[in-house]
Amino acid sequence: MRLAKFLAHAGVASRRGAEEIVRAGRVSVAGATVTDPARDVDADSGVAVDGRFLEGEEERMVFVVHKPAGVVSTARDTHGRRTVVDLVPARGARLYPVGRLDAESTGLMLVTNDGDLANRLTHPSFEVPKTYRAVVRPSPVSAHALRVMREGVELDDGITAPARVRQVRPGVLELTIHEGRNHQVRRMCEAVGHRVRTLERIRFGPLRLDDLPPGGHRRLKAAEVEVLRRGALR
Ligand code: URA
Repeated sequence: MRLAKFLAHAGVASRRGAEEIVRAGRVSVAGATVTDPARDVDADSGVAVDGRFLEGEEERMVFVVHKPAGVVSTARDTHGRRTVVDLVPARGARLYPVGRLDAESTGLMLVTNDGDLANRLTHPSFEVPKTYRAVVRPSPVSAHALRVMREGVELDDGITAPARVRQVRPGVLELTIHEGRNHQVRRMCEAVGHRVRTLERIRFGPLRLDDLPPGGHRRLKAAEVEVLRRGALR
């Protein structure tokens, strides 16, 4: 099996995350550093990450986390800031975030040790819908601007896919997008002349933030994980 896939199966990271870890020189096979994520390995190859041999399979866990502003959505931060993973008691599991939110954005993040699920949920071809609430200025947003955002906005990395956009109150937008480009909602709003003051993710596929308080988390039940997995199998 490819090394990156092997690491993802073992719960180390998503498949793409595992490729980065390998390329960064953090993985060894039988004592020798390997930087090729395609290297063929199996359970007897002696794969180690940061010098630690992989243990047996971990129980798979998926948590919904309400990310507060200022907390970063990477597994580790080079500047020592708190991460979404720090908000979840790991009980020894190697957890990592599914996708990204800007440091100043708030709302629903998933944290898991299920590499395959994370990979599916973040892969653009699975098009998991994500809903954001954005408070923008100036207010209100014109019907023309809303239509442009619905139909597709020209950004420097190409036109955006059709989105659901409605103004729930003057200056407060709810946007549902399927893509996961960097700063996409902020850039879409800016492209039609509005600056995002606050941005919160309120839905991720079938999951809602509901009344989870900022900084709070809850573990998904097996049935919820199944719905999530099936939605990402389309
Ligand atoms: N779009 C953004 O601009 N920022 C986020 O954090 C998420 C989506």
